Amino acid sequence: MPAPVVDAKGINLHLKSGATSLHILRDVDLTLLSGEVTAIVGPSGSGKTSLLMVLSGLEQASSGAITVAGTDIARLNEDQLAIFRRNALGILFQNFHLIPSLTALENVALTLEIAEPSLPWPEIQSRAAAALGDVGLAARLTHLPSALSGGEQQRVGLARAIVGNPKLLLADEPTGNLDQETGAHVIELMFGIARERGTAILLITHDPSLAKKADRQLRMNEGHLSERVPA
Ligand SMILES: Nc1ncnc2c1ncn2[C@@H]1O[C@H](COP(=O)(O)OP(=O)(O)O)[C@@H](O)[C@H]1O
Ligand SMILES: [Mg+2]
Repeated sequence: MPAPVVDAKGINLHLKSGATSLHILRDVDLTLLSGEVTAIVGPSGSGKTSLLMVLSGLEQASSGAITVAGTDIARLNEDQLAIFRRNALGILFQNFHLIPSLTALENVALTLEIAEPSLPWPEIQSRAAAALGDVGLAARLTHLPSALSGGEQQRVGLARAIVGNPKLLLADEPTGNLDQETGAHVIELMFGIARERGTAILLITHDPSLAKKADRQLRMNEGHLSERVPA
């Protein structure tokens, strides 16, 4: 069996809030496999985003061990973490976070240029265009974000997240600002990416009908992560 893309054991996260320390993640274990979509549901404030922050090295766990794509991320310094994030990770947010003054193509190309500065510009452009083609936006390359619908903007976000061919895609409520049908389309695209590229995908969602489509469903509750028992 191939090594998991994410192997996290005994993760605890304490964060300071004023004079008190909050125990945000409690003994979280998580294994994510190549080509699988894992959904996490759970109430607001339960620690879902915090878990993504820890997996991406943006927040340091108080205890526990995390291996992502074969790298023990606790051993990396800030510079190495930045390189790790560029090379191994794709991240998709609820609020698309596109740069408003750049076209769809430029938004995706910029990410690739930062990740792989040695690539020649024509190669960057053709890979960015291909990623936009993969999410069905071949006809929207020169559009600014303001000229795209919400669903299209999120597909640009998805193209940007996959253009570097990450082993792990972290998606934090990526359909939260989309209507049901548009959201379902974005999720279908993510499943296709997992299947075709072997990307491991962690999908945080409020929508139980989307979570049901995932290969595995987990539930976060007050910092505890467990298998989700469908209602
Ligand atoms: N930087 C921070 N400092 C202190 N507490 C935080 C910080 N970020 C999040 N929290 C707290 O951690 C808990 C979990 O938040 P979060 O991971 O964002 O939950 P979710 O994504 O499930 O809604 C919440 O109680 C939140 O208030
Ligand atoms: Mg959140």
